[in-house]
Amino acid sequence: MPRFISEIKRTHSCGQLTKDDIGKEVVLFGWVANRRDHGGAVFIDLRDREGLTQVVFEEDVRPDVHEVAEKLRLEYCVGIRGKVVSRGGNVNPKLRTGEIEVHGTDVEIFNRSEPTPFPIEDSIDTAEEKRLQYRFLDLRRAPLQKTLMTRARVNHLTRNYFTENRFLELETPFMGKYTPGGARNFLVPSRLNPGKFYALAESPQLYKQLYMVAGFDRYFQIVRCFRDEDLRLDRQPEFTQIDVEMSFVEQNDVFDVMEGLIVKLWKECLGIDVPRPFQRMPFDESMARYGNDKPDLRFDMPHTVLTEVVRQHQGGGVPLLLEAVDKKGIVKGMRLPSSMQLSRTEIDKLEEYVKGMGAKGLARAKVGEGGEWTQSPFAKTITAEMRQAINQAMGAQPGDLLLFQFGKESTVHTVMANLRVHLAKKAGLIPEYGSGGQWRFLWVVDPPLFEYDEEAGQWAAAHHAFTRPRDQDLPYLESDPGKVYCWRYDLVLNGFEIGGGSIRLHDPEVQKRVFKAMGISEEDARSKFGFLLDALKMGAPPHGGIALGMDRLVMLLTGAESLRDVVAWPKTQKGTDLMTGAPGDVDARQLRDLYVKSTTEPK
Ligand code: AMO
Repeated sequence: MPRFISEIKRTHSCGQLTKDDIGKEVVLFGWVANRRDHGGAVFIDLRDREGLTQVVFEEDVRPDVHEVAEKLRLEYCVGIRGKVVSRGGNVNPKLRTGEIEVHGTDVEIFNRSEPTPFPIEDSIDTAEEKRLQYRFLDLRRAPLQKTLMTRARVNHLTRNYFTENRFLELETPFMGKYTPGGARNFLVPSRLNPGKFYALAESPQLYKQLYMVAGFDRYFQIVRCFRDEDLRLDRQPEFTQIDVEMSFVEQNDVFDVMEGLIVKLWKECLGIDVPRPFQRMPFDESMARYGNDKPDLRFDMPHTVLTEVVRQHQGGGVPLLLEAVDKKGIVKGMRLPSSMQLSRTEIDKLEEYVKGMGAKGLARAKVGEGGEWTQSPFAKTITAEMRQAINQAMGAQPGDLLLFQFGKESTVHTVMANLRVHLAKKAGLIPEYGSGGQWRFLWVVDPPLFEYDEEAGQWAAAHHAFTRPRDQDLPYLESDPGKVYCWRYDLVLNGFEIGGGSIRLHDPEVQKRVFKAMGISEEDARSKFGFLLDALKMGAPPHGGIALGMDRLVMLLTGAESLRDVVAWPKTQKGTDLMTGAPGDVDARQLRDLYVKSTTEPK
């Protein structure tokens, strides 16, 4: 056992000492972050997770200690003892410990370090692959340490908050039964049950509802979830939810509890007072104005739906628009004020950008002094009436540029939604990433219960089959399912969905009708969700809940660029762990034991 750990105990962290400590004898443990040998004096910066402290070893004072200090190299792990001394006029204002230095009187090397593959510094331009391969070194860097410490704090505050509010932290199984719908599951073969598979939980949804049926009243869990999805900057295959379920509640009660948590997190972690209640917006309005259900409200630039205008004017001399409307498509426009002038080349680039998303092109019009249009494919044939009606609907002013999309509803919404954010970033209305100091929380409420699944030719649950429809819409369950709205909600922050949930359907009779509307037979429903259907029949309380995406929350809270910066051991876009090499090969015997045969040869 090293002398320093067994006999000489640590007294402070490397981020702690100030001028109030001058004269004290201290013991610090950490890593050599910087080293300068001035002949006769060796200076090191000693680093731990709390910060840096400058330590000086002088030959005159302790020649034996100085001799060891001369051997110190970057990333050596060491213990030092010494006296806190003022830096006099040489204060380093960038360091919390910048007013002092420690004059070393003893040192012990716990471990040497080979030269590291990249420098352990705040900002480096090392490729992400390399950083992920040596993640334990990457995580030694101060910005990542800070982020993960914030994450730990969010965990701690969340646990306290829910516990203080009478919630019980209860666990749920990771290995469950595969149920279709929702995200694609990871499957785990069962050795004890040949040919059968567990599914890794994509969320604790059904179990948390069963906790309510069992009478636990208020549940929460900070829980890992697993989804075999295509990955993006804001998606990981395993991620963490702050999962919540409550009995005897309506939507407002859930909002109240969750807003309380958010306000607390922002206050404690950032010192920011987030105003309550959060803004609410109906789902339909969000789609119409912003093209998706997670609008970034730090800037406006809304869309205008022009479908009705085009219909009323029977195409207004523009056959393409009429055709889009006739084919049940939609027409949308977006106004760029003259202050956001774009050059011809920039507009051409925008056209390429939207084509990348499946658009056929980017129709546009420049508005003149008298409201006339130029630089537009529609300018020649459009009737004056429709042009005026569009100008009016969009609030067009001379000098504005109007951008249009028309055709299939989902494509038009997506293209226009992305275009809106793209242009806002270009115009500097929002930064590329990070909040820019603005926190626009929003509840998106009142979505439809069903989505029409074109491929399957039937209605499917937009969220899941256990969301409670609005009472007034129940009559449409059989006649017009598209008109049934429900008690579902998403929490959005600056254009990211950070949470989602619903008031659940606890009435078995309505449940049957919902399954019917989705074309699921009673038998089918029983085989998939029999246990939940039974539970609903045995005194299930009215209940509802929500799950926040913890990783996304911390990403936004810390201004990180991607989820990979807030997950300690993340997977790449291809779902691989570059440090351990997961997923890896297994040998034929292991597969045999699991009754699994591979159809690909191991590479
Ligand atoms: P939902 O599927 O909306 O709801 O998930 C809740 C929140 O989890 C986050 N999230 C993710 N974060 C990182 N990587 C992913 N792959 C990923 N997928 C989702 C999002 C999302 O808002 N059981 C329901 C909740 C409920 O109804 O109570 C559920 O899981 O921030």
